[in-house]
Amino acid sequence: MDNLLLKIDQYKTEISNFIASDGETAEAFRIKYLGTKGLVKELMGEMRNVAPENKKSFGQVMNDFKVFAEAKYEALKDAESNNGKAAADELDLSLPADPLPLGSRHPISLVRNRMVSIFQRLGFAVAEGPEIEDDWHNFTALNLPENHPARDMQDTFYINQNPDWLLRTHTSSVQVREMEKGKLPIRIICPGRVYRNETISARAHCFFHQVEGLYIAENVSFADLKQTLYFFVQEMFGKEVKIRFRPSYFPFTEPSAEMDISCLICGGPGCSVCKHTGWVEILGCGMVHPNLLDNCGIDSNKYTGFAFGMGVERITMLKYQIKDLRLFSENDVRFLKQFTSAV
Ligand code: DAH
Repeated sequence: MDNLLLKIDQYKTEISNFIASDGETAEAFRIKYLGTKGLVKELMGEMRNVAPENKKSFGQVMNDFKVFAEAKYEALKDAESNNGKAAADELDLSLPADPLPLGSRHPISLVRNRMVSIFQRLGFAVAEGPEIEDDWHNFTALNLPENHPARDMQDTFYINQNPDWLLRTHTSSVQVREMEKGKLPIRIICPGRVYRNETISARAHCFFHQVEGLYIAENVSFADLKQTLYFFVQEMFGKEVKIRFRPSYFPFTEPSAEMDISCLICGGPGCSVCKHTGWVEILGCGMVHPNLLDNCGIDSNKYTGFAFGMGVERITMLKYQIKDLRLFSENDVRFLKQFTSAV
C-alpha cells in the first residue's frame, strides 16, 4: 500500500507539471490519466490487493487523485480553447477592416480652392509669396512710403531682429514681386495667409486669408475689372446676385473702389446681416496706380492694369452663413464636420 501511495504522489507531481504544448495536449492527458485504460482506472484496480482495513483510506486517496486529475483536465481544456480564441482574434484576415473616419477639407480651403478655380478658368495663374515680408514689398513699392498715414489702415506685426521685416499685412505684396519679374502681361491670383495686430473678435483675427488678383497688359480698363469680378461673384454665389461699386481709397490703385454684393440673406430689402442696407461689402479693387508700375520698372504709358483683394474668411462666412470668424481657427470637429459633403 505504501508503494501505491508513493506512486500516486509521483503521478500528482507529474500532473501538476503537465504543460499544454499544442492543440491535442488536453486529449492526450485525458487518455493517459482518465481514459478507460488510463492510470486512474489502473490504480483503482489495485484496490483488490489492498488489505481490507486500508481499503477505506486508500479509496479516499484514490478519489482525491481522480478529482485532482479531472480538475487539471478541465484547466487544460479551458486554456486550449482560450488560446484558440486569442489566435483567431489576432489574425482573422476575413474580418472587415476597422472603419477609418474620413476627414473633410477646412471650409477656408474649400472656398479658397473654389476661388482659385473660378479665376483659373479666366486665365489667371496662381502666384505665391513669403509670409515674412520686407517693408518694400508690403508697403513702399505699393505707394505706401514710410510715414504715409495709410499705413495705419493695417496694424502691423514687425519682427524685432530686423525692423525692415514684418508679417505681411496683405497679399498685395505678391503683386510687387510678380511685377518686378518684368514678364508681361501679368494675370495672377495670389491666395495666402496674412497677419494684423487686431483684437480677436467675431469679425476680426490676428491672422486670416486673402486672395489677391492682378491683371496688367495693354488697354486694360475698369470695364474689364467689373466684368471679371461680376463673373466671379456669379460663379461663387449664384446668377441672381447683383454687384455695386463704391468709390474708395487705396494708395496702390487709382481710381479705387469697394465692391458690394446684394445681400444673400434678404436679397435686397434689408436685414440684420446687411445692416438693413441690402448690400454687403466683399472686396477692395481699382486700377493699378502708375507709381506702382514705375516702381517695378514697367512702362506706365504703355501698360495699365487692375487689381483686387478680398478676404477668404469673409467670402466663406457669407457663403455658408457663419456668424463667428473665430470658428475657423478653433479646430472644433463639430463645426468642421459640417463641411464633409461640401466641395
Ligand atoms: N490690400 C487691401 C487690403 O488688404 C485689399 C486690396 C484693395 C487689394 C484694393 C488690392 C486692391 O489689390 O486693388 O485691405
